[in-house]
Amino acid sequence: MFPGRSGAGADGGHAPVDLVVRGGTVVEAGWSGPADVFVAEGRVLALAEPGAPAPGTREEIDATGRLVMPGGVDPHCHVGFTSGDFTSLDDYLQCTTAAVFGGTTTIVDFAIPRPGQAPADAAYAQRAKAEQGLCDSALHACVTEWDDTIPDQLGALVADGVVTVKMFTTYRNETMADADTILRTMATLRDLGGMVVIHCEANHIIEDTQAHCAADGRIGAADMAGTRPELAETASVAEILAIAESQRAPVYFVHQSTAEAVELVAAARRRGLRAYTESVAHHLVLDETMYEGEHPERFVCCPPLRPRDAVSRLGRHLFTGEITTIGSDHCCYDTAQKRSRSGDVRVMPNGLPGVETRLPVVFSAYVAGMGLPATRFVELTAANPARANGLYPRKGTLLPGADADIAIWDPTTEWTITSGDLHMATDYTPYEGMRVTGRPETVMVGGRVVVHDGRLTDATPRGRHLPARRLHDPVAPVSLRRPSALST
Ligand code: URP
Ligand code: ZN
Ligand code: ZN
Ligand code: ZN
Repeated sequence: MFPGRSGAGADGGHAPVDLVVRGGTVVEAGWSGPADVFVAEGRVLALAEPGAPAPGTREEIDATGRLVMPGGVDPHCHVGFTSGDFTSLDDYLQCTTAAVFGGTTTIVDFAIPRPGQAPADAAYAQRAKAEQGLCDSALHACVTEWDDTIPDQLGALVADGVVTVKMFTTYRNETMADADTILRTMATLRDLGGMVVIHCEANHIIEDTQAHCAADGRIGAADMAGTRPELAETASVAEILAIAESQRAPVYFVHQSTAEAVELVAAARRRGLRAYTESVAHHLVLDETMYEGEHPERFVCCPPLRPRDAVSRLGRHLFTGEITTIGSDHCCYDTAQKRSRSGDVRVMPNGLPGVETRLPVVFSAYVAGMGLPATRFVELTAANPARANGLYPRKGTLLPGADADIAIWDPTTEWTITSGDLHMATDYTPYEGMRVTGRPETVMVGGRVVVHDGRLTDATPRGRHLPARRLHDPVAPVSLRRPSALST
């Protein structure tokens, strides 16, 4: 008997089976083992004993020697993102095409209001684009400034399934919110069953540091690491945790780049706060020596890449359980955009393309390279992102009833990452030339094979905007939960 197995279909019962993934090792957040995955009407019907009969099935996929995982859920993905004078270069079709090639089958995008735009208007405009996607998507709204309409806007958004709200403590005159706005937004969302997701870097420290760097002529892309110090992140995380604690409000920290910041959040969680850490692939895999190369501008992101020892201290928290999710912080600028202002990091576009490479680089570095259990990989990259965004158990799991978004991985194949083979709407990858182990070989969305052996097999956009559930308990320790059967 398998955890989460439903009786129907697996034992030759009533429900017709459309497709079976046979002979693989199913990897879920809390367990893994040999099982066949029965799919019907776009959803997982059952996890069955290997070889169980599937009368009437139209298709079988041989997954012998493969890992059969829920498709990745990318909790942090900017699609066609405008910041300052720059707009990143992809749309939903391009971003989700790249996502599925990389084994990700759900993205969570951001609706960042332009100056003067209401947060709800920004969210509803962005939501309408979901149908251009090859896979499903959800949204974070964003509040930058408090006014009397915000509570009603947030109430409407939560009712419509947008329950997470991005805030920033940096980027003055763009998206930075003051502490009053953050406190009020947190308190409002607490009562609505939503959650603030926040970019923390203390802007006063960053602006002061940048002014000194500029005075010394050290403000170009090659100087990036020194312009946004680690302590700016630590200071801001501490302040935001204090606000959240004062309000008893849940809070999710995006792209935490240092072990110190992660440890502050973990300590708050031990005190009972619902506080969560997201880390992103480039902070876990790349370090600040990338700024010494020929193309430093290609690595300009906020927070910046950190020193090598800081990267390994951060990565250790994947093993301890203190990091909750791994995102990409995908932001698809090309080299020309990055280069156009590369003499001054204060005005150049920041962010790295990564929706396609998030899973392969993390799998290679940590699962193949350092023995991180594949179950923990699924927890970090699919199950917990789904839970933190109110999408679980529809996404992030292969339990019966879940959408049949499935990534079948060859865990041992070695390949070299090169931008010419990738599908993101840019001309470079930060991982150019990196040799990696493990690759998603067959990727299914809603029970249809969309990628097989590096080819797109179904290019029909069928993306849906996913309404999120209210978050009463965003990220319970999924690996400690006994899976139970879901209704289909
Ligand atoms: O450098 C980054 N991360 N750019 C994207 C916007 C953000 O701060 O997440
Ligand atoms: Zn950010
Ligand atoms: Zn360059
Ligand atoms: Zn971001």
